Amino acid sequence: MRSRLPIIAAAACLLVATCVEESAADAPRRVARMDFGKTPDGTAVEIYTLTNGKVTAKVMTYGAILVDLVVPDRDGKPGDVVLGFDTLQGYLTANPYFGATVGRVANRVGGAKFSLDGKDYQLAANNGPNSLHGGIKGFDKVVWKAKEMTGPDGPAVQFTHRSPDGDEGYPGNLDVRVTYTVTAANELKIDYAATTDKATPVVLTNHSYFNLAGPASGSILDEEIAIKAANYTPGDEEMIPTGSIAPVKGTPLDFTTPTKIGKRFDQLKAEPIGYDHNFVLDADAKLPNVAATVFDPKTGRVIELLTTEPAVQFYTGNFLDGTVKGKGGVAYAKNQALCLEAQHFPDSVHHANFPSTILRPGQTYRQTTIYRFSAR
Ligand code: GLA
Repeated sequence: MRSRLPIIAAAACLLVATCVEESAADAPRRVARMDFGKTPDGTAVEIYTLTNGKVTAKVMTYGAILVDLVVPDRDGKPGDVVLGFDTLQGYLTANPYFGATVGRVANRVGGAKFSLDGKDYQLAANNGPNSLHGGIKGFDKVVWKAKEMTGPDGPAVQFTHRSPDGDEGYPGNLDVRVTYTVTAANELKIDYAATTDKATPVVLTNHSYFNLAGPASGSILDEEIAIKAANYTPGDEEMIPTGSIAPVKGTPLDFTTPTKIGKRFDQLKAEPIGYDHNFVLDADAKLPNVAATVFDPKTGRVIELLTTEPAVQFYTGNFLDGTVKGKGGVAYAKNQALCLEAQHFPDSVHHANFPSTILRPGQTYRQTTIYRFSAR
């Protein structure tokens, strides 16, 4: 009788999706939970490890932050590809959004104010006169609730958070869900959902800083990127869009064919120099198609970005200046990582010609972004 138990268990596993976390004792656990310290007000923070055996992600309840992401290189050697800190303390003190879930509205809202349905709203200004990434205490700085959600796509954790009416100046109670899944196709899939009881803008994204050669391995300027975007939204000196949608052709923003990130740096007018631009994804660049591809010639690692969103902010870590010391005590220098923040256009509340970012009661905001890993 005993010898038949594993067969019965395996058969049950085919039927019960959650079994991947509780499979036979010799198989690795696919979702593991650990304590990761406490916030200054005593709230416990948990960290979850999701793995498919090749790709391993660590995500924590503070900020629904992606802490580590280990993927194989061309020789099959695993290595972490995201900047961050070894302890919760690092994230609590000086985190420039490493791995963070950003909201209620990612990117900039000009003048930190907007009007909606005839009412004026004043937001928390945290970027000169503007509001950036949700304000002073955005979704990256709150402790989320977590639930293991492992299902047919693979090991998963769902984070939930209620942003109260008036949070950082935004109207309505907003219930937000963010689910991280490590899929069998070596993807980190991030699904977002939100509902509200008053009309409010909502733009959620993930702000991971990738370096495909490893977070301690210097600049990303020799990595190559392709972005399926024929257009971008030009901005002013404060990176607030002018409202125009301009072609990338003939500019250093043309990544329609794979190009070394640093190749045209000297043509950029930004200060500090680097990319920090909103690319308007082509109509055929939405999920299930690939929107952007990054390749690291040193390790052969590749990221493909797939998203439901109309745009991606491509940012080359221009504001890193060596003052933030991350994993292993490494001082993160300018251009030591890149971000591919899939989102709506910045400052959409002030531009009727941009796709709307307003969520109304009865509607559900949804977005899915996938970072898919391979090596060549
Ligand atoms: C985004 C912005 C940048 C910067 C970083 C965080 O990428 O576009 O300007 O604020 O976040 O430092």
